Amino acid sequence: MARVALVTGGMGGLGEAVCIKLAALGYRVVTTYSPGNTKSEAWLHSMKNLGFDFRAYECDVADYDSAQACVKKIQEEIGPVDVLINNAGITRDMTFKKMDKPNWDAVMATNLDSVFNMTKPVCDGMVERGWGRIINISSVNGQKGAFGQTNYSAAKAGMHGFTKALALEVARKQVTVNTISPGYIGTKMVMAIAQEVLDTKIIPQIPMARLGKPEEVAGLVAYLASDEAAFLTGANIAINGGQHMS
Ligand code: CAA
Ligand code: NAP
Repeated sequence: MARVALVTGGMGGLGEAVCIKLAALGYRVVTTYSPGNTKSEAWLHSMKNLGFDFRAYECDVADYDSAQACVKKIQEEIGPVDVLINNAGITRDMTFKKMDKPNWDAVMATNLDSVFNMTKPVCDGMVERGWGRIINISSVNGQKGAFGQTNYSAAKAGMHGFTKALALEVARKQVTVNTISPGYIGTKMVMAIAQEVLDTKIIPQIPMARLGKPEEVAGLVAYLASDEAAFLTGANIAINGGQHMS
């Protein structure tokens, strides 16, 4: 039986590459889309044309009840989740002077509460079955901080605290929990940055002098999901073109 991989935010730039990579490796891939997404049918259709038969479920990962209902449906209709990739996320960049409570709360709920909301309904099953993979997509900006991102950097740093604590609790049951911290990858999240800021403040800080590709991150996700990565847990793996080394 193919393992089931659940990728949150699979219709975004990074998530789509992860879905494609895992499907190509034989996983049964399920993804989620946000309640505001009006293009989910079109995305599924375009993926079908490329030969990928993904299943997609509406879910607001920031909302506990929505996440529980979504995962319950997935487990009933598809089967137990073996691999969870907590990938959905947003930015609401502004300097701390301008940062208001709604934009703080939105990022904390979508980027950090979501990790609890989605992991909660799958983790016990992984432990009972004695195998599982939880992969949290954090960011270089959670490791080093970023101008205009007090909310995002805090949430992304928090993800790795969660990773380390849960990794300790479930290691004996062959469930691994890891964080990936990508640098700047060419998706719509990064394309939302003003070109001038990108050209003058960001690209010059990347030794490889380019943005990363979603496929490069997807390859790392695939490795962490594999049986070969069984001894790797509680890690925070940087993939950032040399922008930050810790
Ligand atoms: N480092 C240092 N200074 C910076 C800076 C940076 N990264 N970004 C902006 N500044 C400076 C500007 O040059 C400007 O300086 P002056 O006043 O001397 O001209 C000052 O800060 C104010 O900048 P703005 O005029 O742009 O101010 P704003 O209030 O309109 O916007 C901002 C502020 C929202 C932070 C905007 O500058 C911005 O979007 N910066 C990019 C933030 C960023 O890198 N976000 C990452 C998004 S991608 C992502 O998050 C994925 C991931 O995980 C890697
Ligand atoms: P993206 O293209 O904007 O995709 C973000 C995804 O998150 C979308 O698929 C979106 O779903 C989903 N999402 C947002 N809010 C949601 C909610 N409340 N409920 C459910 N889904 C929600 O961005 P990306 O670049 O692929 O980013 C993916 C992840 O990588 C994020 O966690 C991001 O922080 C992280 N990351 C990105 C970069 C980068 O440079 N791009 C670097 C480091 C880390 P819909 O499309 O259905 O709305």
